[in-house]
Amino acid sequence: MKIVLLGPPGAGKGTQAKSICNRYNIPHISTGDIFRKNMSENTPLGIEARKHIDKGYLVPDDITINMVYERLQAEDCKDGYLLDGFPRTVKQAEALERFLKEKNESLTVALLIQVPREFIIERMTGRRVCPACGASYHTKFNMPIIAGKCDICGSDIIQRKDDTEETVRERLDVYKAQTQPLIDFYEDRNVLSKVDGTKAINEVFESICNILGEKI
Ligand code: AP5
Ligand code: MG
Ligand code: ZN
Repeated sequence: MKIVLLGPPGAGKGTQAKSICNRYNIPHISTGDIFRKNMSENTPLGIEARKHIDKGYLVPDDITINMVYERLQAEDCKDGYLLDGFPRTVKQAEALERFLKEKNESLTVALLIQVPREFIIERMTGRRVCPACGASYHTKFNMPIIAGKCDICGSDIIQRKDDTEETVRERLDVYKAQTQPLIDFYEDRNVLSKVDGTKAINEVFESICNILGEKI
């Protein structure tokens, strides 16, 4: 099972990724989470990534592609994986295609979680995340069991620095210009499936499971 999750910022990619990876027992590879981990540890990659992420811009393709290539070589990826937030440009999608081709493999599905722009600001500004395990919560739509603590690992949950209204607007523009073209890219290759991301979290997950059930 090799899954790409597509969708605008705040579509619910991270939220659904956790449930999908639990059910299908595959690693969750979120480029955003990897960058944030590096940022919190002040690694050279993190220092470079921060310059772009805090403004809402994409990290340059060569850096991102190398990082993902390395991650995909790991032992736990040999039976499949879920990519959350990668690819995000046509160049990244072509790089993934080359990577798969070299191994004689193909993508199972590119899942597009569709959410119109008007839902997104509320989702993003109310979001809280776990810096330790990457879980997403929401002050209104998805509250943790104990206020301020991650359900999964118990860490204190925080607000992401790029979740201000201004940065979210920038990220939405970047999505439209650079990532939206991937919808056609994957449609042309007959691997695109769409889900309505405006429904409740468990309903979106049910639709995703129905799609994945047909693919395996
Ligand atoms: P990344 O971390 O990937 O951010 P993103 O794509 O902007 O997406 P988000 O994580 O913000 O949203 P999500 O879809 O995961 O939503 P979530 O499930 O949390 O990337 C961050 C940055 O890193 C980028 O801006 C870029 O700079 C850089 N980067 C990353 N990958 C890169 C790449 N490949 N190339 C270059 N640069 C890259 O949900 C959002 C909120 O809504 C939560 O509060 C959640 O609880 C709530 N929610 C979820 N589903 C529902 C629902 N159905 N109903 C109500 N509320 C819901
Ligand atoms: Mg995310
Ligand atoms: Zn956690």
